[in-house]
Amino acid sequence: MITLEPVTLAHAPVLQRLFEDPGVVEHLTFPSPYPAGEMARYIENAIREREVGARYVFAILEPDGTPSGIALLKGVDLAVGAGELGYALGRAYWGGGRATAASAAVLGFGFDTLKLTRVIAVCGTLNVVSLRVLDKLGFVEESREIQSHAKWPEPREQVRMLVTPQTRRDRELRAAVLREW
Ligand SMILES: CC(C)(COP(=O)(O)OP(=O)(O)OC[C@H]1O[C@@H](n2cnc3c(N)ncnc32)[C@H](O)[C@@H]1OP(=O)(O)O)[C@@H](O)C(=O)NCCC(=O)NCCS
Repeated sequence: MITLEPVTLAHAPVLQRLFEDPGVVEHLTFPSPYPAGEMARYIENAIREREVGARYVFAILEPDGTPSGIALLKGVDLAVGAGELGYALGRAYWGGGRATAASAAVLGFGFDTLKLTRVIAVCGTLNVVSLRVLDKLGFVEESREIQSHAKWPEPREQVRMLVTPQTRRDRELRAAVLREW
């Protein structure tokens, strides 16, 4: 099973190689092609932001300790109890439940440790796998809009999703009822 630990520069070389795959950063605001040294820069910034309580980036680790991706809370505002979830895995690690498990752990950290009351996620409507992950986590749609990004050939529809401890409980209950059936 995977484990999470606060990201450090020791994770940078392996994560850098994973993010150099254009398919991994396609739906993210990360640059593409992913420049050399970018992951180390990202991690240095993340460590600074962790110290001021604004961003918490975790490395997702395989049982042998190899980093397979990241899961994070960014834009954390402790005063209003809000933050934004993000996650990405190297392509070789897709399809095994890791994003759901890692994000559930990060949400647990956000709700239980940071005492957040609402976490958003922004996801492209083309990214059906990620939308499925968010649905499993208890996110519900808040709004959608067409957004442009320098790396996209055309504007894309983005959905803003919201999870609260209550929507998460409702989703768990729904899943339990369906299992009973
Ligand atoms: C999106 C991403 C994180 C998913 O990671 P993952 O570990 O494969 O996700 P999980 O296995 O936890 O869950 C994927 C779910 O999508 C489902 N799924 C897979 N292909 C699908 C498809 N074509 N249509 C609908 N659902 C699909 C899976 O069956 C699974 O749901 P299930 O558990 O009900 O069967 C991974 O593909 C990734 O890193 N992509 C690049 C970065 C990215 O897009 N990040 C999110 C930005 S919003």
